[in-house]
Amino acid sequence: MSSEASQRTDRLKVMVSGALGRMGSTTCKAVAADAELVLTGAVDPAFGAHGAGVQTDLGVGYRVPSYASIEAALTNAEADVVVDFSTPDAVKQNTRLCIQHRVAVVVGTTGLSPGDLAELDRLSGEAGVPVLVAPNFAMGAVLMMQFAEMAAKHLKACEIVELHHDAKLDAPSGTARLTRLRIEDSWREDGLEKEVPIHSVRLPGLVAHQEVIFGGMGETLTIRHDSLNRESFMPGVVLAVKRVRDLQGLVVGLENIL
Ligand SMILES: NC(=O)c1ccc[n+]([C@@H]2O[C@H](COP(=O)([O-])OP(=O)(O)OC[C@H]3O[C@@H](n4cnc5c(N)ncnc54)[C@H](O)[C@@H]3O)[C@@H](O)[C@H]2O)c1
Repeated sequence: MSSEASQRTDRLKVMVSGALGRMGSTTCKAVAADAELVLTGAVDPAFGAHGAGVQTDLGVGYRVPSYASIEAALTNAEADVVVDFSTPDAVKQNTRLCIQHRVAVVVGTTGLSPGDLAELDRLSGEAGVPVLVAPNFAMGAVLMMQFAEMAAKHLKACEIVELHHDAKLDAPSGTARLTRLRIEDSWREDGLEKEVPIHSVRLPGLVAHQEVIFGGMGETLTIRHDSLNRESFMPGVVLAVKRVRDLQGLVVGLENIL
């Protein structure tokens, strides 16, 4: 930790995994800008030779030790909470390692399968280490899913169109899959077994957008959410970092801490 950061001992210590990525770098800045948090480590394989704990200028106001792997970071630096914005391939093992090191995790990375979530649920429960998985940290997206669940009580035909930038690795998006689950669960409670189709659009210029379209007799209802930039996710990320340690086991969805 840089000398300036190490003096902030009363603050919650946060590490960011995927720190050089689009979401990770925005999260590093949001953590460093919050008076209750301090960034104690930045993890990304792309640090390469710098990833051995070198104090690095990430443009957050103080230098931060950088690590090429979560294992090295957790072995060499202190953390109360890790935030993961890595890749669908890396997130499960990163979360496992945090649980092993007994550090609470906020997972923003999408692409975890129901089987992955079941395994992480078991591991976090056994170890007593809380894990919050939130496929979408934007407040409007959480509301969109809640509104969709309300609409599902009355309208029994629905399709989802999710639109993202062309560098997104997974499809359909985690938000679309969680929205589909909520709608299908609501229908199931009413005795209807039916799938919600998801259509994925990937284009340059987009950030993260979703339309949930319900059809009824002579009417449609469209619920749309747009994240126009990555700052839209940061109030949710910071809130999750501050609340995750109050949770038990694995919790999926930001709405559980609002
Ligand atoms: N939950 C949300 O609200 C939300 C919002 C936007 C994006 N996302 C998700 O966040 C993830 C990251 O998105 P992005 O646009 O920042 O991607 P990105 O490609 O810009 O960044 C990913 C970073 O992870 C790093 N990385 C690769 N392997 C790693 C490992 N083993 N450990 C740590 N870091 C590793 C990469 O080097 C890269 O810098 C994606 O899954 C995306 O869908 C979630």
